[in-house]
Amino acid sequence: MKLFPWTRPLVSRFRPPGDKSITHRAVLFSTLAEGDIEIYHPLDSLDIAASLRLVQSVGVELIQHETDGWVLRSPGYHNLHEADDVINCDNSGTTIRLASGILAGLPGLSVLTGDYSLRRRPMARVIEPLTMLGVDIAGRQAGLAPLVIKGGVHRGGVIALPVASAQVKSAVLLAGMTASQAVTVQEKTPTRDHTERFLQAMGAKIYSDAGQITVEPGGLHPIAVTVPGDPSSAAFWATLAALLPGSSLVIEQVSVNPGRVGFYQVLQKMGAHVEFRVQRPEPDPMGEIVVSSGLLTGISIGPDLVPSLIDELPLIGLLGSLARGKTEVRGAEELRFKESDRIHTTVANLQTLGVEIKELADGFVVWGQDHLGGGVVDAYGDHRIGMMLAIAAAVSQKPLELLGADAIAISYPQFFADYKRLGSD
Ligand code: S3P
Repeated sequence: MKLFPWTRPLVSRFRPPGDKSITHRAVLFSTLAEGDIEIYHPLDSLDIAASLRLVQSVGVELIQHETDGWVLRSPGYHNLHEADDVINCDNSGTTIRLASGILAGLPGLSVLTGDYSLRRRPMARVIEPLTMLGVDIAGRQAGLAPLVIKGGVHRGGVIALPVASAQVKSAVLLAGMTASQAVTVQEKTPTRDHTERFLQAMGAKIYSDAGQITVEPGGLHPIAVTVPGDPSSAAFWATLAALLPGSSLVIEQVSVNPGRVGFYQVLQKMGAHVEFRVQRPEPDPMGEIVVSSGLLTGISIGPDLVPSLIDELPLIGLLGSLARGKTEVRGAEELRFKESDRIHTTVANLQTLGVEIKELADGFVVWGQDHLGGGVVDAYGDHRIGMMLAIAAAVSQKPLELLGADAIAISYPQFFADYKRLGSD
């Protein structure tokens, strides 16, 4: 796909597609409570389709599937049934990891697999803590999917997580919902808390204190949820607004959960104008973010900040390419285990565009310059890399050929429709 530099600033109001993390949880948690769960403004993308298929395969019905609202009807956790085939989670790490925790208590056999990328992503991080709770779960020898779970009775306990991962934390808390006693998770660095907030809204007894989250097993009730816009999807347009002089973008009804806005705080520190307005604090904060262009300066990002902007780090590479001075990202080795090795795919693509950027074991260093070149770049099957490159094309001085743009449908099927619309507003 050939992409051209934008010739005008981005001045617009915009409601991003529903948040991917929250839509996954709304769909997957329908298994836990008997009745109808209503999901408004869901993300409708390939990743979410994997979660929808999964819950349907164990007995949840999708009784309404309109563009802006879905209703899932669950028979309740104890009336779910074993899936009659292998469950394919495609490209979705959130589906396979959260589902491992959910299926831990479901009597019968569950086999979870995924596409080429997912079958290469680390699963020992969920196998090990779930095994410590007595769950019968195994993967391939190197701790990879397919995963096999023989669900049934398992115990509670205290699990200290070695990696900062909301997916792993969620898998353990979800196993806690069907354990025989309480489960406590200890986190090194706080990660997005959508699972905790969602379970609490469904009536779970769940408490967080000083990096420790405890959940007690018990019944839940279904809820109606309006999914906030995805700040990670909006971050592509925010980057464009920060970089294109004269731009101003109002991002409406977006998640302003403190665990998700690290990227916008960094953008502000780099010199863009950023304002936050919280409009709905509960159950999961939603509001408005306004981003206007500014003169950007390089920044250093370390491990404490990484979980709050993990999915936006490729964009930090792009911003650093056009900011004054040096931008450094460290403590981000987790990026190597995403849909692609995002340290490598970010660095290799930006180098193609003539950027001076160096790959580090746990991040990258980039030296800013005043323009980007053109060339042939590759999404490497990774939706977020594809979108970062489309934004690079918009701020470049030469056209760019993007290979593998179809991966973008994983999280943002309307991306190019928005690209066109926002470019002509
Ligand atoms: C997610 C958590 C993050 C993130 C992913 C979605 C979630 O992954 O990268 O896109 O919904 O919990 P990790 O928890 O593995 O860091």
